[in-house]
Amino acid sequence: CLEIAPLTLEINALKRERNAIILTHSYVEPEIVYGVGDYKGDSYFLSLKAKEAQADVILFAGVVFMAETAKILSPQATVLVPDRGSGCSLADSITGEDVRRLKALYPDAATVCYINSTAEVKAECDVCVTSGNVYSIVAALPQERILFVPDRLMADNIRNELVRRGVKKEIISSDGTCMVHEEFDVAQIEQARAQFPGLKVVSHPECTEAVARASDFVGSTGEMMRYVTSTAAPYFLMLTECGLVGRLEVESPEKNFIGGCRLCPYMKLNSLEKIRDLLRAPRPEQIVTLDEDLRRRAARCIDRMFELTP
Ligand code: 13P
Ligand code: SF4
Repeated sequence: CLEIAPLTLEINALKRERNAIILTHSYVEPEIVYGVGDYKGDSYFLSLKAKEAQADVILFAGVVFMAETAKILSPQATVLVPDRGSGCSLADSITGEDVRRLKALYPDAATVCYINSTAEVKAECDVCVTSGNVYSIVAALPQERILFVPDRLMADNIRNELVRRGVKKEIISSDGTCMVHEEFDVAQIEQARAQFPGLKVVSHPECTEAVARASDFVGSTGEMMRYVTSTAAPYFLMLTECGLVGRLEVESPEKNFIGGCRLCPYMKLNSLEKIRDLLRAPRPEQIVTLDEDLRRRAARCIDRMFELTP
């Protein structure tokens, strides 16, 4: 705490000096979320905040694809990312060239990308989705065939959810997975249920379809938070990144979480020290830049998401 306080004070002073805001994904450390963040939430909420931002500088405490999305939506702002190495196993699984090849194989398909993708991939797609709006957007598209990139496990979950809703679609996907969420399994759920009667299991749609089926609730990180805060249960098992559990422990201290979450090494590359140094003097690789034609094409794909989100 004694080390955190001066850093927090300096970052907040630098923010005022630079007319900067800090967007924080719920997976980053609590001292960032609560100490220096202006907005905290899931990918959809933070994209909206990036689009509305009036600040000269947007610092994204999350991962690189999120900062790129902020730059796509707020090209007039200087967008900063604390660690250029903060990738994402989903975003890094596919290139724009790969999407072009897939589109040539399925020319009649609508091309839908999960927001966990690079600007180059978004520029090739018809519409972007997040874990919070994916089912309603895919269901609303006129095409029956959907080419969904890059998350193979989310594609399985979309297929199952659309069958449940009585919507007929053929979902074709590429082969990416989230290295954090793919690791959860049904054995962990069964063991926890045996040990903690009344347990509610909450998972993210980046988990396998078996895990999703065995869960009580599946949703985006924002939806998971709303579910937990509005549900009475003696225990919760959160099958997601531990940062979200950290937020829930702060905001819903009366709830019991039994552990079992996992860490995303990329999200954990964010730190107060890096944020302070970045606001003092960004290094060139920490400033997000995009080719203007590519940015415009990627912006079309994200704007379509905003139009189609209920
Ligand atoms: P959310 O949009 O649900 O916050 O998900 C982002 C993410 O990276 C999950 O792993
Ligand atoms: Fe990417 Fe998974 Fe980390 Fe989310 S948790 S940023 S999907 S690697």
